[in-house]
Amino acid sequence: MFKKLFFGNTRKPKGFLGKIMINRMNEGHAKLSDWGLSHLTDINPSEIADFGCGGGINVAKLIKLFPDAKVTGFDYSNVSVKESKKVNAQKISDGICNIIQGDVSKTPFENEKFDLITAFETVYFWPGPLTSFKEVYRTLKSDGTFMIVNEFDGISEREKKYEKIIDGLKLYSNQELTDYLKQAGFQCVILFHDEQKHWITVIAKK
Ligand SMILES: C[S@@+](CC[C@H](N)C(=O)[O-])C[C@H]1O[C@@H](n2cnc3c(N)ncnc32)[C@H](O)[C@@H]1O
Repeated sequence: MFKKLFFGNTRKPKGFLGKIMINRMNEGHAKLSDWGLSHLTDINPSEIADFGCGGGINVAKLIKLFPDAKVTGFDYSNVSVKESKKVNAQKISDGICNIIQGDVSKTPFENEKFDLITAFETVYFWPGPLTSFKEVYRTLKSDGTFMIVNEFDGISEREKKYEKIIDGLKLYSNQELTDYLKQAGFQCVILFHDEQKHWITVIAKK
């Protein structure tokens, strides 16, 4: 019962337990997100968004990796938005970072705003996910990049345990993710799979 309540905070962090979960994710996802970010070669984005930004640690990493870019963190949870603002307070007052609250399936952003949109450990919860991927597609520039980084590849034994305790967690196979992205309009989808750790990084080009 407590496990379900606590891990429910991965979907939408809420209250005190949500804050604990956020800190846990900021640390626990560090190696996975570093691995994901290592695939972002050959791009020089000036407008970046991290959708489902959680505690904002990946927003901070993106600012470090692309120091000339503006980075927007976007999440529908009050707690995630609050923690992301705290972690990135200096960059927000420097005017290079923005944290906005809302749902990824219906964002407030104009067409073709971003060069790069990232999604770490979050697409499992997104509405659709086709509706949400279409929204990413709409808000990306014509040569934009969407990167998904997941610690579950749809085939590990470990993830089946989490599927039972996290309501709303939808696990996708590599083929399913590729198909949804292509249906959303992405021309080129490249998938990197660490078969031992069961991690995946998907790079989709508009
Ligand atoms: C498991 S956490 C991952 C957080 C962060 N990206 C990380 O890697 O540590 C998932 C996050 O996605 C957010 N999220 C889930 N569905 C969302 C949606 N439909 N719109 C916006 N944010 C969403 C949750 O609020 C939560 O902060």
